[in-house]
Amino acid sequence: MYRSHKNNALSLDHLNENVVLSGWVQKIRDKGFIIWVDLRDRYGITQLVFDAERTPKSIMDQARELGREFVIKVEGEVIERESKNENIPTGDIEVLVKNLIVLNSSETPPFTIEDDTDGGEDLRMKYRYLDIRRKPVQNKLIFRSKVAMAVRNFLSNQDFVEVETPYLIKSTPEGARDFVVPSRMNAGQFYALPQSPQTFKQLLMVGGLDKYFQIVKCFRDEDLRADRQPEFTQIDCEMTFVDQEDILNTFEGLTKYLLKEINGVEVDEFPRMTYDDAMKTYGNDKPDIRFGMKFGELNEMAQHKDFKIFNEAELVVGIAVPGAASYSRKEIDKLIEWVKRPQIGAKGMVYVKYNEDGSFKSSVDKFYDAEDLKAWAERTNAKPGDLICVLSGSTSETRAQLSALRMELGKRLGLRKPNEFAPLWVVDFPLLEWDEDTQRYHAMHHPFTSPKVGQIPLLATDPGSVKANAYDLVLNGNEIGGGSIRIHDKKTQAMMFDYLGFSEEEAQAQFGFLMNAFKYGAPPHGGIAFGLDRLVAILGGQESIRDFIAFPKNNAGRDVMIDAPAPIDDAQLKELELQLRS
Ligand code: AMO
Repeated sequence: MYRSHKNNALSLDHLNENVVLSGWVQKIRDKGFIIWVDLRDRYGITQLVFDAERTPKSIMDQARELGREFVIKVEGEVIERESKNENIPTGDIEVLVKNLIVLNSSETPPFTIEDDTDGGEDLRMKYRYLDIRRKPVQNKLIFRSKVAMAVRNFLSNQDFVEVETPYLIKSTPEGARDFVVPSRMNAGQFYALPQSPQTFKQLLMVGGLDKYFQIVKCFRDEDLRADRQPEFTQIDCEMTFVDQEDILNTFEGLTKYLLKEINGVEVDEFPRMTYDDAMKTYGNDKPDIRFGMKFGELNEMAQHKDFKIFNEAELVVGIAVPGAASYSRKEIDKLIEWVKRPQIGAKGMVYVKYNEDGSFKSSVDKFYDAEDLKAWAERTNAKPGDLICVLSGSTSETRAQLSALRMELGKRLGLRKPNEFAPLWVVDFPLLEWDEDTQRYHAMHHPFTSPKVGQIPLLATDPGSVKANAYDLVLNGNEIGGGSIRIHDKKTQAMMFDYLGFSEEEAQAQFGFLMNAFKYGAPPHGGIAFGLDRLVAILGGQESIRDFIAFPKNNAGRDVMIDAPAPIDDAQLKELELQLRS
């Protein structure tokens, strides 16, 4: 037997009992005649004591040889501690060791395996299995498992069937590049790993499964960020005979259930905002609505004077930063520098201090009088004591820049509280998005998304204005899910492919299977996919998804532990009939 108890289990209730414990040596304090060892397992820490007066000499000698991260099994008696530790459940007792078996030794670990570690990010990733021994990391993985379990629970109770779809497939367009896998048996041909199971879940609806879900790995070869990994997990869902309202209600239900089960938080009905309103009010299609600082568009009140920069701008827009009128000149200069960094890209920033006494002081006093600035204050909802920050330029760039500033200030002012949850549906996304590089329209969500009823004729006249039955679920400023009602008739789907620039042959070659399926009574259907990694991170009060993934990739898409990607040997290349890289 390796253990009679786990390392969080013993208390004064077990006094004088003989117990068997196993685990890792976390800490050793050797005072000569007495040695204390912290024994760790997933559940907690128990203090062991080796006492020369009460522990057999051979065991004392063995104890002196122990090192950090040795794996040991001990037998001993539960005794009361002299100096108690209120911070851990076993803090009232210790185990007086009578017998010790070293199950495995350990080299000195490259960083300390305690809640607070001295290990840097790279080192911890290289030795991820050691990092996972740390409680904070373990807790995140356990938390993820709990969320996944709750998701399965909710969806199975609602008759969703979990179906596995293949990983070796043909490209499914979700807007990123594919990871490809060469086929040995079909030399010169490649599978693509799914960016999502999109087409398969639609085929399951044609197959009459009615309600599908899958907790599934997706693969996208795209640039990485804190909330993006090249392989990530979706809670992928699809339903038949539904309209947008049914989907929003079902998945609002799931999100509420998770917030209640996991965080103990009850939230009201989720607000809804159109994409156009989100862009106008927050400069962003995934606004964090935990705090205000809504955009005030100032064109009409800023373009009547001689200030050339504003007069030439497509958009002049500001936000009121609460309580920031007291910022010093130096602090404001720093903000200006912040928005001018290449990552943000603003050319400059105009500011207006709306002083507590109701007076104004701005960086453009030369052009605008108090009456003008009062109108700006009204439009940006500024109160005395606030600082109004104004940016200008092209509409899309200026909105993105001011949105970045808003989020940064929200963070600095402590307005983005991790334990406050503000979900939001963003609806009525545009069907198409103009792509500067290719100089044509692309599907904003994906090519299977249905335009809103009656909007198809607009495709011919004003394609950019066509709205889709597409929606995103936003939580605390993060897009945690997205979906749409799908096209389910062959004619519309063919028209959409044509519109997106696929020739008939290309559409047939890439999506013939779907078009074929649509010939055989495809029912109306729609769905959504949540990003599980993001959802888990946010429910866990964080935005970086990496810690919630057991073996994540670094920013260059590498797994530094197993050292992948890596070259393959010549024989393998030959077998796959792939060219050697010269
Ligand atoms: P979409 O592309 O919006 O939709 O993806 C759904 C959700 O997946 C998450 N996500 C990611 N998470 C981590 N790393 C990534 N690289 C990454 N990319 C996306 C986001 C996103 O909201 N097939 C459609 C869904 C549908 O229409 O039903 C799809 O994949 O949280």
